[in-house]
Amino acid sequence: MLLLKHLFTIAFAFHFFLCSAQKQAATTLYYHEPHRSQIHFTPKEHWMNDPNGMVHYNGVYHLFYQHHPGSTVFGPIHWGHATTRDLIHWQHQPIALYPDSLGWIFSGSAVVDYKNTSGFGRQGKVPLVAIFTHHSVKGEQEGRSDYQNQSLAYSLDEGKTWTKYKGNPVLKNPGIKDFRDPKVSWNEVADKWIMTLATLDHITFYSSPNLKDWTKESAFGKETGAHGGVWECPDLFSLNYQGKKIWVLIVNINPGGPNGGSGTQYFVGDFDGHQFTPFDKETRWLDYGPDEYAGVTFSNTGNRKLFLGWMSNWQYAQVVPTQKWRGAMTVPRELSLKKLNGKYLLASTPVAAVNNLFGRSLQFQNMLVTDLDLTAKTGKLTGPAIIKMAGDTMKDFSITLSNSLDEQLVIGFDKSRNEFFIDRTRSGNVGFEKDFGKRHMAPRFSTSQNFDCTLIIDKASVELFTGDGLTVMTAIFFPGEDYSNIRMQSKEELKLKSLDVSFQKQPKQY
Ligand code: FRU
Repeated sequence: MLLLKHLFTIAFAFHFFLCSAQKQAATTLYYHEPHRSQIHFTPKEHWMNDPNGMVHYNGVYHLFYQHHPGSTVFGPIHWGHATTRDLIHWQHQPIALYPDSLGWIFSGSAVVDYKNTSGFGRQGKVPLVAIFTHHSVKGEQEGRSDYQNQSLAYSLDEGKTWTKYKGNPVLKNPGIKDFRDPKVSWNEVADKWIMTLATLDHITFYSSPNLKDWTKESAFGKETGAHGGVWECPDLFSLNYQGKKIWVLIVNINPGGPNGGSGTQYFVGDFDGHQFTPFDKETRWLDYGPDEYAGVTFSNTGNRKLFLGWMSNWQYAQVVPTQKWRGAMTVPRELSLKKLNGKYLLASTPVAAVNNLFGRSLQFQNMLVTDLDLTAKTGKLTGPAIIKMAGDTMKDFSITLSNSLDEQLVIGFDKSRNEFFIDRTRSGNVGFEKDFGKRHMAPRFSTSQNFDCTLIIDKASVELFTGDGLTVMTAIFFPGEDYSNIRMQSKEELKLKSLDVSFQKQPKQY
């Protein structure tokens, strides 16, 4: 009997070991798929587009996202869910919101309703409230124009489970086809919630005391900014500039972005609790690369403004050559304001925590670069890397990532045009869409003599932060074999005060 018991215990332990080993393998195996981002958030499988409902609560950052769990292309959209405590290591969570009789769950935001204005709170539990667009496919197919409406869901267990509000929709469509992507925040001056909503070719602001009853306040943008496409996924927030409260209005637009297809524009001005008034009529872009879209900020992060976008472009998002999943997010970025020639500009930097992803680091000082095989010094690239450079004169330069198939991605600065560029003409598989294999450009805004540049390189993406964070470019690429070489060239002899190359920490921690 005792022997039997021992055998049983051993068998059980073995089974447990196997199961957890399998589980472990299942959760990490997908990181070996071709082109799979190693340090950026990706869904385990299937389709992902916009980040949604980003909110910070009790030390946890929540990322919801547009997700079609049945396929690698766009379809019945749910809100997928992931969480992180440090903004760099993500845990997948169960799907938060499923389509229902009112439609698919399109983009939106989430707030912490501390004062329980919604009345969803029970027994002192603070409700997290999601405000999203219900997209009725039926209504669309019937040729109606009111198929997008705003609805609510709430969670009383810190985002784990969600209940849709019985009174949905809370904001009905007045007959505008594109009527979506509510971004809600508490406004102290109005003493109300303010909803910033994308309404075709402009923004409409609504206010509410309780998240359920909404009143139209004002409209902005019909005659301002870029209008090469539909306005989507807006965001309104304030940033402090030398003690002054300055308002920023982000408006994503598709198509009509600065390098074709989708892009993120923004306006700087004042918001008096009712109306947004821009300081000027200029169109500014938060990211000039082809692959940052639908980016908005987290709510409830105090004075910090943390931004994250979808690393793709509607021009080709559904045909990029990944197999089991489609879509990745940018690294979280911290936003601040800078003033240049009397104008406010948004500056972006990767959140400091991104540095914790990298371990082995090589540092060089006072280098003169004409033609430098960097990997001869650092060793071949075997995964993600971060490159930081600083100098005191701006000169032409290029950084080429390449592989043994003679595929290459070139990132650089063209002094004669005062432009940065990312050239993916020969970056690998570019044939899935006619406009993918291109050279993309971005102006340099910084007026400083100095030169700074941070490059975050992952398997299938690069993010460039330069010119005091005022020029940002994000681009994705699909080489036939991972890039392993880094070469730096400058026909003018670039003088670098410092050059740091750091490689992803091993073993990977997922
Ligand atoms: C932006 C967008 C939103 C919409 C969502 C649908 O990429 O088109 O306007 O809510 O995607 O997934």
